[in-house]
Amino acid sequence: MRALAGIAWSRLMFEGLEKLPPDPILGVSAAFRRDQSSVKVDLGVGVYRDAQGNTPVLAAVRAAEEVLARTQASKAYVGPAGNLDFNRQMTELALGPWAIANNERIAAIQTVGGCGALRLGGELIKATRADAVLHLSDPTWANHEPLLGSTGLATQRYPYYDPATRGVDFERMIGHLGRLDPGSVVLLHGCCHNPTGVDPDASEWSAIAELCGKRGLVPYVDLAYQGFGDDLETDVMGLRKIAEMAPEMLLAISCSKNFGLYRERTGVLVAIAGNASAAAAIATHQARIARRIYSMPPDHGAAVVAAILADATLSESWRNELTAMVVRMKLLRQKLADGLAARRPDRDFGWLTAQRGMFSLLGIDEESIARLREECHVYLPPDGRMNVAGLSEAGVDYVADSVAPLIP
Ligand code: LMR
Repeated sequence: MRALAGIAWSRLMFEGLEKLPPDPILGVSAAFRRDQSSVKVDLGVGVYRDAQGNTPVLAAVRAAEEVLARTQASKAYVGPAGNLDFNRQMTELALGPWAIANNERIAAIQTVGGCGALRLGGELIKATRADAVLHLSDPTWANHEPLLGSTGLATQRYPYYDPATRGVDFERMIGHLGRLDPGSVVLLHGCCHNPTGVDPDASEWSAIAELCGKRGLVPYVDLAYQGFGDDLETDVMGLRKIAEMAPEMLLAISCSKNFGLYRERTGVLVAIAGNASAAAAIATHQARIARRIYSMPPDHGAAVVAAILADATLSESWRNELTAMVVRMKLLRQKLADGLAARRPDRDFGWLTAQRGMFSLLGIDEESIARLREECHVYLPPDGRMNVAGLSEAGVDYVADSVAPLIP
């Protein structure tokens, strides 16, 4: 046995650690970077890419950064709740006039990205009702279970997606939710469901909202793609119905995709309480949870968003850039659907254009996903989720050639 300064190496703290398998989504990016092929295509991590394959800094973001660089007077601490203007603006962007009318029932805290918001919400549930069960859609984003389950909260699944129709299995979903115990927490995707790309329609959202109110379920909405489905208003129609009908609600918002601020880790957790005193109490718990984990959020991304949303010209520029990203993703969906239909006349690919946001599930099995990677250098996560924004106009035909024979 080797020894260091008299200590047996076998007793060192990290000696027993074993290497972990790669993250199902981030591991795909790492494998893609290692691939030297000139034809490689990354359809893995949910990042928007332009026709050149770049993820540009939005012009509105750049302009806001220039203003901040000239005008920011201090780098002193902001506080655990972060940028209060940002918190209010993002809450109002999601919840609309309802947020202004119900301001005293709302406690919002700036977070380290949407993941930080989700986690802080999980910790808040844990601090309030440790035995609450968190219900996740089947399937859901690959990091929901690890991120929220590691708070210690119990998690279960509710039916959501029907692979046969490639749509929401609403009857089974609503039937299942209707049997949950009051106080159960139901994690819903605000729009652009990740990984399936299918959302409830307007009447289904109304039924979900009504059920949450009647049965005393606590909706926890993950809103990472506002504006990426149809537009900033249509995409939040469902969660606005829920806010109207459910007495309590949690909302985790990310600015990664719609503001293109991925690496700035910019998000907000909005908690809606039954009354003003409960909201005031929540704010103290949110701040304490943040203080115990990371103390205070980073400033930059929230300052950028606040500057954009406070300025009519910057806001308009941002909205136009957002629209352009969405139009392009819809075009890529259409091109791929056409390419697949031409190669597989035995199949209907209407689902690809009906689905919304960045993702669709191709329905390809794990063995075929591995073959796609090895033989065609096309990268997908193990659940077969495709990032539509990872396609390029020039590369659609190559992806259609590679994927078409594998689609069930
Ligand atoms: C994704 O789903 O690919 C993104 O939200 C990035 C991530 O952290 O997984």
